[in-house]
Amino acid sequence: MTGLRLHERKTLAALEKLGGKASVEDIAEKSGLAHAAVMRAALTLSAENLVKIHEQKWNAAVLNEEGENYAQYGLPERRLLRALLRLGGEANVDEAAREAGLNAGLVPIALGWLKRKNWGVIKGEKCLLTVKSEPPQGVDERLLAAIFEKRSITVDDLSQEFKEALNVLKKRKLVELEEKARRELELTAKGWETVRKGLEIVEEVTQITPELIISGRWRSVKLTRFDVEAPGPAVYPGKMHPLQQIIQRAREIFLEMGFTEIRGPLVETAFWNFDALFQPQDHPAREMMDTFYLASPQTGRLPSKRLVDAVAKTHEDGWITGSKSWRYKWSSEEAKKLVLRTHTTAETVKYLATHKKPPIKVFSVDRVYRNEQVTYKHLAEFHQIEGIVVDKKVTLRDLMGTLKTFYTKFGIEKIEFWPSYFPYTEPSAQAVAYHPKLKRWIELCGMGMFRPEVLAPIGIKCPVLAWGGGLERLAMIELGLDDIRMLYANNVGWLRRTPLCR
Ligand code: PHE
Repeated sequence: MTGLRLHERKTLAALEKLGGKASVEDIAEKSGLAHAAVMRAALTLSAENLVKIHEQKWNAAVLNEEGENYAQYGLPERRLLRALLRLGGEANVDEAAREAGLNAGLVPIALGWLKRKNWGVIKGEKCLLTVKSEPPQGVDERLLAAIFEKRSITVDDLSQEFKEALNVLKKRKLVELEEKARRELELTAKGWETVRKGLEIVEEVTQITPELIISGRWRSVKLTRFDVEAPGPAVYPGKMHPLQQIIQRAREIFLEMGFTEIRGPLVETAFWNFDALFQPQDHPAREMMDTFYLASPQTGRLPSKRLVDAVAKTHEDGWITGSKSWRYKWSSEEAKKLVLRTHTTAETVKYLATHKKPPIKVFSVDRVYRNEQVTYKHLAEFHQIEGIVVDKKVTLRDLMGTLKTFYTKFGIEKIEFWPSYFPYTEPSAQAVAYHPKLKRWIELCGMGMFRPEVLAPIGIKCPVLAWGGGLERLAMIELGLDDIRMLYANNVGWLRRTPLCR
């Protein structure tokens, strides 16, 4: 059988020496091969009808940490009982617990089982034993000890009594069940014929070394033939979370396009989140329904009086902007309130208040919060991609071009711009993308040019292009998800299946 590889021949040879039938573990030991190597050889050998694989599965019970602890030091009720015996049969619950060395969390459990096992009763603060001497070990305790001693126990052949005790220990969360498998290999008639003909075991070379090449020995040694289609074990190395990858990608694209990153605090004053963006103080978005207001501390500090006054006047009568304005009495108390920022536009406008010299191109990819019902398409905590471009002659066309470039780099092909409304931009639009799988248009971001009512108070004289949108939506398109919550679920299966490179 020259077609067989070294591992397969070694496996056959070991199997022959073990009498023709043996467990994978024994074959591994006899042959000096790794367990996985024997299993792989077995698959090939069984395909060649040289061996038969017998598989036996069973359930084993093992102790968890708490179970092991109890197996060594006694169940809490047993420890309480012993302490009470030492204290003369009755004591205050606290005193008995201290004597037993039970921590507070275990006391109710110990008392509960003491009663259930008819070992004692509780009267007010006191605990009284109803037994005179120490009762013998129960089935539960014997089972606990047996599992501890053998490390694991086969569930299938436990007696009825022990099976019931196992259920109790399972409910007390002291044991866990594991499925175990034992595999045995057996030589078939064809296998016997093969080994009888004699298996020549010549060491094979699996790796060409410089030494083999220099000495010329590579010409004479036997090289292992690889079966590139043989199943190998699945490996799940650590990798970056898919959402984190998309965040990184967004950053890279902004950097490629010449933008600089800015970041701001998660907690902002309503002033930067709303007022500086010309959102009136009775705007529905400010209501508790959409915004998380901080309970403590409730308020933060406002910027300079000059800036606050300019914003106030712009809301009240338009100030120097010629705007019709909102016409109401602006309140600095309302503006001082602290909120979890609802959008990262709070950061771009704040940045502009201290950086006025064009050209400016900055971005942020950061967290925002909205008091929303979490559903398949809404999260209460998510990421926004935000950017601004400030220059003397930029127009809405430049904004559309910038966004087109940005999203194209993300691999989104079909994108359109539809009219929209935001209190702080004019004109306003939204970028939408066609989702080929969902067969509908999905909003990518809001966009527009900041209004004079936003720019005048912070002292900006050039046009400002601004946009912002959810990152998780983009991730849904990119990863083909139909439920946004998957991005934050503790779902190892999905994380493993999602490839690192797409
Ligand atoms: N801040 C808006 C939002 O959260 C998006 C936006 C940003 C719109 C900048 C216009 C300009 O939806």
